[in-house]
Amino acid sequence: MAIRTILHYPDPRLREKGLPIESVDERIRTLIDDMAETMYAAPGVGLAATQIGEAVSLFVIDVADEEEPSELRVFINPEIVSKQGKSCSREGCLSFPGISEEVERAAQVTVRALGRDGKPFEITADGLLGVAIQHEYDHLQGKLMIDHLGVIKRRIVHRQSLKRDLE
Ligand code: NI
Repeated sequence: MAIRTILHYPDPRLREKGLPIESVDERIRTLIDDMAETMYAAPGVGLAATQIGEAVSLFVIDVADEEEPSELRVFINPEIVSKQGKSCSREGCLSFPGISEEVERAAQVTVRALGRDGKPFEITADGLLGVAIQHEYDHLQGKLMIDHLGVIKRRIVHRQSLKRDLE
């Protein structure tokens, strides 16, 4: 396993789409292990493959509380099949270090994906898990947290990000 470098906004590779994974083989399982290790080391609650420069359709999430045992969730080729309601919460992103902003999302989401074993599953989630799924799914479309903000906030976050990389 290896800790990979997380790309920071405005790295153009964050705008790449995650291409479908044809077979869940050893190479993909190694990538999953690297992503999990990278996410836990950060630390973060989610990481998409595009955030480490791998343009494939895969993300990992673990929203377990610190005092709970870790619960790694793997989503390969995820598809959001339904969304319900609206809810607003403060989000951060490992590609936007030090920044957190209110983002509006669906309150509940149903997603279909393949797990680490290559088998399909479906899950309906709300709360932090629901938000994390939508956030990571966005990454695989080349869409970032900043795209959900209004014009002024977007400009502020953009400037903060440029300044951060000069420090
Ligand atoms: Ni993110």
